Amino acid sequence: MKRSQINDIIKEGIEFLRQCNFHLPPFAFWTPDHWRSKGRECDQIRRNMLGWDVVDFGRGDFGRCGILLFTMRNGNRRNPDDIKPYCEKILISKENQRCLMHFHWQKMEDIINHCGGDLVIQLYGSDENEVPDRVHPVRVRLDGVATEVPAGGCVRLKPGESVCLPQGLYHELWAEGGTVLSREVSAVNDDTADNRFAEEVGRFPEIEEDEPPLYYLCNEYPPAD
Ligand SMILES: [Fe+2]
Repeated sequence: MKRSQINDIIKEGIEFLRQCNFHLPPFAFWTPDHWRSKGRECDQIRRNMLGWDVVDFGRGDFGRCGILLFTMRNGNRRNPDDIKPYCEKILISKENQRCLMHFHWQKMEDIINHCGGDLVIQLYGSDENEVPDRVHPVRVRLDGVATEVPAGGCVRLKPGESVCLPQGLYHELWAEGGTVLSREVSAVNDDTADNRFAEEVGRFPEIEEDEPPLYYLCNEYPPAD
């Protein structure tokens, strides 16, 4: 992706959050210039990959395969000093823009439609070879209510509604009827080791630097001196 596209995606996301009256923490708006003066006190942001995350799954077609994420808080299983066992992030999905089919070995997550159109989530179980189980139905809880969904079936969440996705459950999500702001409340998130995609994908974008970054992505922070 070009940096100019990443900058535009983030700017558009910030405007959508403003419309949703959703406020981000201060580090969302720290520019590369601000980061020059940030020391070890900000290590949790760096190490636990808080902040902006533009995902195009290596397909180079963000409008169809992509999602804009912002992680507000997260723990770190590799750091014994970091005892936080949970994560919270937001997801911005545009109409029919797919966050591709994946599950997590360790992370259990609640996905909550916070504001906007409908959030549609397609579900499959996974078999012993970790491929989608196209036969057996799955059971999920929708706001605490146990619900059976056929293999490859979808749940549709209106604003305020949520689903709990346990480990090993394949999910792909997209918005219908307008852009959706979702929240994700989960166990610790580890994008370096806890995503099992049904197909080969890229997780962090290759970036062509055609203009300076407005904000760093969560995997780009410079180390503290
Ligand atoms: Fe997920």
